[in-house]
Amino acid sequence: MTALLDAAERMDREELRALQLERLRATLRHAYTHVGHYRAAFDRAGLHPDDCRSLADLARFPFTTKADLRDNYPFGMFAVPEDQVRRIHASSGTTGRPTVVGYTQRDLDTWADVVARSIRAAGGRPGQKVHVAYGYGLFTGGLGAHYGAERLGCTVIPASGGMTARQVQLIQDFRPDIIMVTPSYMLTLLDEFERQGVDPRATSLKVGIFGAEPWTQEMRREIEERFAIDAVDIYGLSEVMGPGVAQECVETKDGLHIWEDHFYPEVVDPFTGEVLPEGAEGELVFTSLTKEAMPVIRYRTRDLTRLLPGTARVFRRMEKVTGRSDDLVILRGVNLFPTQIEEIVLRTPAVSPHFQLRLTREGRLDVLTVRAEARAEATLEQRAAAASAIAAAVKDGIGVSVGVEILDPETLERSVGKFRRIVDERDRPGG
Ligand code: DLL
Repeated sequence: MTALLDAAERMDREELRALQLERLRATLRHAYTHVGHYRAAFDRAGLHPDDCRSLADLARFPFTTKADLRDNYPFGMFAVPEDQVRRIHASSGTTGRPTVVGYTQRDLDTWADVVARSIRAAGGRPGQKVHVAYGYGLFTGGLGAHYGAERLGCTVIPASGGMTARQVQLIQDFRPDIIMVTPSYMLTLLDEFERQGVDPRATSLKVGIFGAEPWTQEMRREIEERFAIDAVDIYGLSEVMGPGVAQECVETKDGLHIWEDHFYPEVVDPFTGEVLPEGAEGELVFTSLTKEAMPVIRYRTRDLTRLLPGTARVFRRMEKVTGRSDDLVILRGVNLFPTQIEEIVLRTPAVSPHFQLRLTREGRLDVLTVRAEARAEATLEQRAAAASAIAAAVKDGIGVSVGVEILDPETLERSVGKFRRIVDERDRPGG
């Protein structure tokens, strides 16, 4: 096993921390020297990169937010001349300008290395075939997975998202060992296998590497059982790199090891910004340690999780992300994340894992309706029982009343990539 690990994965914690401090200090200097935004922000805080003498000193430095990236649209956060930027990615976001990120050749190499390491941790080996169904394009999913799989020595099938019937055909004909895709699109593929009368448990697939959106242990069980594969979690975000910031190891499936030799994590109180001790839940914050084109200092991800000690690797783990603070629904004073509803829907017999949450307003009251699809074989009585069971489980488990609609099979919108769980119709006239 150790022979499969790369040099950084074989370090001990002391060596790792020394490497992190050296890289952190270099990154702070690089950002301060070459990015106007960081120079101004550090100056305002009365700090110089040399004030960082230990890893704990990082907590004194200012945060970076998505708004800072937008204010410096498109290339204001770049720390190298534009002709050294080899690739640009961007995420559309829901409002206004996209968030733009850039990579030097060395950044692209680092990225391929961490994704290769991720696929290996998921159980992938050189010589295997990887079907990539993350979208190719400005989104980092497709190309990020692609170059990582090649770097590991795998054969890549760059399917991208969409054309679902053809994906099923390709999986049968090309016989990939691994699939990389969002968990919600994997469910769309599952339907298509069944529609074509192909047994999803009989494919060549052994491992699925799922990420780009939150998904639960219940979803893991569903996918593992229906496809007879191992399902593991991959995490990342474009601002920090793309997929491959953290990866779950297949032998433990106990949360995601953060590739800490390149990305330094902190968890902070989302309201006060104070750094929280290991094990406490809060907002994940990342500082890049080796990025050249676009270093990020204390980037606020808005993702909620906790840091845990390493197990299968020396690196610390992050727990499966429960949700983004942006996806938090506050319903009559009760906090609710879509993943909590996912757990309940997946435990309920007679409904399929396809569901959406619709927010509407009645008078001054926000109303949440869980819209789930019945399984094809479900009777009317079973549907009615499922509706009451979901409503009761939400009331008991989360403490708030919601509406539940059980729809006919194949009526809800299907995911082709990142799925929009919440449909917010509160601002619609009469909605
Ligand atoms: O989603 C990168 C990626 C692609 C990761 C493919 C994994 C696989 P963005 O489009 O910038 O980048 O979106 C980043 O997606 O802040 C999280 O909120 C969410 N996210 C990503 N991975 C996970 C995961 C890509 N495993 C945002 N679990 C992040 C939960 C995730 N949420």
